[in-house]
Amino acid sequence: MKPPISLSQFLYQNEQSFPHLQGIAGLMGEIAHVCRRIAAECARGALRGISGEVGATNVQGEAQKKIDVLANNIFIETLQYSGHTCALISEELEMPHLPPVNRRGKFLLFFDPLDGSSNSDINVSVGSIFSVLRAPEEALTGEYQPSWALQSGQQQIAAGYAIYGQATQLVISLGQGAHLFTLERESGEFFLTHPHLQIPKSCQEFAINASNERHWEEAVRGYIRECLAGKSGVRGKDFNMRWVASLVAEAHRILMRGGVFLYPFDARDPSKPGKLRLMYECNPVAFLIEQAGGRASTARERILSVVPTHLHQRIPFIFGSAEEVLYIEAKHLPAK
Ligand code: F6P
Repeated sequence: MKPPISLSQFLYQNEQSFPHLQGIAGLMGEIAHVCRRIAAECARGALRGISGEVGATNVQGEAQKKIDVLANNIFIETLQYSGHTCALISEELEMPHLPPVNRRGKFLLFFDPLDGSSNSDINVSVGSIFSVLRAPEEALTGEYQPSWALQSGQQQIAAGYAIYGQATQLVISLGQGAHLFTLERESGEFFLTHPHLQIPKSCQEFAINASNERHWEEAVRGYIRECLAGKSGVRGKDFNMRWVASLVAEAHRILMRGGVFLYPFDARDPSKPGKLRLMYECNPVAFLIEQAGGRASTARERILSVVPTHLHQRIPFIFGSAEEVLYIEAKHLPAK
């Protein structure tokens, strides 16, 4: 049997085959290194002695965990002098972190350093999510301009996430399919174990935080009622439900076996029409999902077409098996 190819070999081969990916291998190699370091911190669990909250809130108004801050520092430390990026935009930082001018590179990196961190103190899977965009020429020397970063998700050159679970796995796309690499802890190398992930078109599994039902639109309430009615209802089949409360874990399950995820429009606060953040949660996950044959939308618009208005924008997010997402979108169409 041929040995699986390593992440470095995969990146090198892609960079050679696709001229627009020039320089991506160096950046992705650094990101893989960041993920290995964060995986090691997560694996130490309670031995790290850094569980719990910092006592501050982040730009989102959410309580920051000590592990969030640590993971964010690992991203910044590793990437700010790497020469690959001209701005580092994190869930944990209000403003972009700019490398010194002589260490700037051509990519913008968006990241959520530790997604699902409410699960970190209880040893449930968490992850890091990232999205890579190309920066305009002036970003190599100039003061930060919001116009560099406010690009729609379809401009992404690459995206991915690492999941820190029983095994550490990295799922990436450079725009030619979504591919899963597994970390061999002994050698520290990621190997391609699942090339070209494909999400089944239909599914019988949904994921939603049902405690928010009273804040949803009728379209989503009606959809969930149909799922719960199972075989005896209009869908004519039984559905299963899962909710991990880690976006990375839900996206991973859906990439591996199908299903649909909803964090839908929520009427609680007009400034936050959804919970999840467009630039470093929804865009990278949507990119991977589409590359694996699935669909990702706000229920009314393709996620990757949304033109952002600000870095930490929140948006409704529905993704997964293509036929199921289409079915949910149809429920949101105005009645004829
Ligand atoms: O980033 C926010 C996040 O933790 C996601 O990872 C997850 O999908 C979601 O929030 C869980 O939300 P809730 O706590 O409302 O279930």
